[in-house]
Amino acid sequence: MNKVSKTQIQKLDGFSKKATNVKAYLIGQIGKNSQIPNNSIKLDTILNEIYSVIAQAQALIGGRVIILECENNQSLISLYEKHGYKLLDITDETNLKTMYVAVADVQQLPNAKS
Ligand SMILES: CC(C)(COP(=O)(O)OP(=O)(O)OC[C@H]1O[C@@H](n2cnc3c(N)ncnc32)[C@H](O)[C@@H]1OP(=O)(O)O)[C@@H](O)C(=O)NCCC(=O)NCCS
Repeated sequence: MNKVSKTQIQKLDGFSKKATNVKAYLIGQIGKNSQIPNNSIKLDTILNEIYSVIAQAQALIGGRVIILECENNQSLISLYEKHGYKLLDITDETNLKTMYVAVADVQQLPNAKS
């Protein structure tokens, strides 16, 4: 990880400020089906389904962090921030932004299934 503060590293690792890697769940390709007219599905519904699966996986193999990559678009970033995600300040040659949230934090959300 580059350009990540020691405090942030410790939060992600749960213990060490010197950790060089963390076990994380990468969420990819979230998107509603644009073929469905007036598709009423929202990000929170999709995330709750994801969190339900991650809760099962975590019980078996652990892991503290969920990360995702999204387009560098303020509306999209704000949407994820509303769901508890934070930008991770890492260098990347693409135009994608990496965001993260602690698994423990999302499981405490009132709408998240456990
Ligand atoms: C991500 C998604 C499921 C969220 O659905 P939602 O909860 O109904 O939220 P919205 O679709 O209203 O999106 C929220 C805002 O993000 C913007 N946005 C969403 N996807 C975007 C994208 N790919 N590029 C730019 N802006 C995007 C929307 O225009 C909207 O902006 P506004 O608040 O200024 O109107 C849906 O926007 C989607 O399927 N997006 C396309 C795929 C995508 O970009 N997925 C993210 C991959 S990490």
